Amino acid sequence: MANQAEGAQAYLPDGGGLTALREAVDGCRGCALYRDATQAVFGAGPAAARLLLAGEQPGDVEDRRGEPFVGPAGRVLDDALEAAGIARDEVYLTNVVKHFKFTRDERGTRRLHRTPNRTEVVACRPWLDAEIREVGPEVVVFLGATAAKAVLGSQFRVTRERGRLLTLPDELGGDTTRSALATVHPSSVLRSDREQRRAAFDGLVEDLRVIAR
Ligand code: URA
Ligand code: SF4
Repeated sequence: MANQAEGAQAYLPDGGGLTALREAVDGCRGCALYRDATQAVFGAGPAAARLLLAGEQPGDVEDRRGEPFVGPAGRVLDDALEAAGIARDEVYLTNVVKHFKFTRDERGTRRLHRTPNRTEVVACRPWLDAEIREVGPEVVVFLGATAAKAVLGSQFRVTRERGRLLTLPDELGGDTTRSALATVHPSSVLRSDREQRRAAFDGLVEDLRVIAR
């Protein structure tokens, strides 16, 4: 019997590609986050996408709909991709953590995002690794610090390294040569105050343009 300390690995199917992974993920008990979430949210997009974008975790809307980036942050991402000349339907979108982590506000009505901790991120990594292996993209883009640190190491600083082409760690390299790039999370654009918002959005677009080229 698998136990939570082992993380997600024990729940991954042996074969069957993305379809089998997507079917299996909701049964994952690799960490405690499955308990309060509505469902696991797996990645979405073409199985042979040249570009894979990884965010942090599903948000409130994604948790209820079962699809990544379909809430407010997803709309910012859509606009940024369009401005960078990248077609969203040609991109594979996913998250480093597949279940929504949240806390309730004092009245118990709204569900407020909580950042997944290192243990949860590490527990969930096998799903992301499997997606990267199956899709075999040319470039993996990490949206925000949680996603970037999950794969590039806890010392990684998005503020310092954003917008630069990096090399994906060997264990994910496989037979295709793959590059990585880190940028801010689209929700950071939503969190910035009015005067800063345009600049934050433009910064995200500028980083994504590095990939489009
Ligand atoms: N933020 C993320 O990181 N991922 C989503 O799917 C939605 C919001
Ligand atoms: Fe499994 Fe990831 Fe969900 Fe934790 S967050 S239960 S590791 S799918």
